[in-house]
Amino acid sequence: SPSDPDLVERARAAKEKLGDKVFVLGHHYQRDEVIQFADVTGDSFKLARDAAAKPEAEYIVFCGVHFMAESADILTGDDQKVVLPDLAAGCSMADMATAEQVAECWDVLTEAGIAEQVVPVSYMNSSADIKAFTGKHGGTICTSSNAKRALDWAFEQGEKVLFLPDQHLGRNTAVRDMGMSLDDCVVYNPHKPNGGLTNEELRAAKMILWRGHCSVHGRFSLDSVNDVRERIPGVNVLVHPECKHEVVAAADYVGSTEYIIKTLEAAPAGSKWAIGTELNLVRRLANRFAPEGKEVVFLDKTVCFCSTMNRIDLPHLVWALESLADGKLINQIQVDKETESFAKLALERMLALP
Ligand code: 13P
Ligand code: SF4
Repeated sequence: SPSDPDLVERARAAKEKLGDKVFVLGHHYQRDEVIQFADVTGDSFKLARDAAAKPEAEYIVFCGVHFMAESADILTGDDQKVVLPDLAAGCSMADMATAEQVAECWDVLTEAGIAEQVVPVSYMNSSADIKAFTGKHGGTICTSSNAKRALDWAFEQGEKVLFLPDQHLGRNTAVRDMGMSLDDCVVYNPHKPNGGLTNEELRAAKMILWRGHCSVHGRFSLDSVNDVRERIPGVNVLVHPECKHEVVAAADYVGSTEYIIKTLEAAPAGSKWAIGTELNLVRRLANRFAPEGKEVVFLDKTVCFCSTMNRIDLPHLVWALESLADGKLINQIQVDKETESFAKLALERMLALP
């Protein structure tokens, strides 16, 4: 538990012993008991950039999920080792697009005669294989904080975008930020022949959205928004773009975890906020801003933690740090060289976005 003084002391001692040899990154969805030991915290974009910022650190301990640790391995030096304190910390959304399915999709686009016009844009929440596919086919990675810039760039390279794997981020960005209509988007279902689409539908679409979603954000509904507005008059509804389109359309503000934090920092005392994102972050923000007179509530009480983010707890962090301090490398995340080279191309295109 966060208050277990023995574990807290052990984590502190192991980290002190490791000194500059270790750099601990913590995503905003991590537990308080873990986040207190992070050297930097951030959204997916900030952490990808910061991972490469400490070339002198031999070990990067990534408190987040598997795809984030893979991206850190791709972006850091060959002599730096990335460690994920619990290997079971995956992401159900990233698992919704496999390399085989995406290769099959490309065949479908080729058969429909549109593959040359299509630029893949893959959300950071994807495996290294999918990032490599993206790099190989001239595309870029994006996160929730730069999805519009990534799509602007992609539509300069080609006429259509294949957006993987989060249909909601893709749709929300296209419709809310880029003026496209819902009819410009089609959903490609990897479990159906030809993605469940006719070749005519594929040819007419501007945005081909992969049928993936976040199991946490997917639970917020339009009812959650309507209920909170009724319960708390004057409330500002602030949600993550992984939420469904109808939720995003009904919200007042939409953005990444870092954006959510910055927005609350800038909010005036007395303002009220309902936040639609993961519970660890919302609770931390509620506690942090209460003394300043800003009321922060969770958008829907039935939505819970991200169970895979939550797998990284203080006992796992202590085990990882103590093992490294004893000279034992455990839980290393290492992307093979071939995959890494193409995935890096896609990630570097993202980092170079204007
Ligand atoms: P951001 O931190 O980029 O907003 O991403 C949210 C998320 O779901 C990460 O898994
Ligand atoms: Fe994946 Fe959603 Fe959890 Fe983020 S919050 S790690 S997208 S399941």
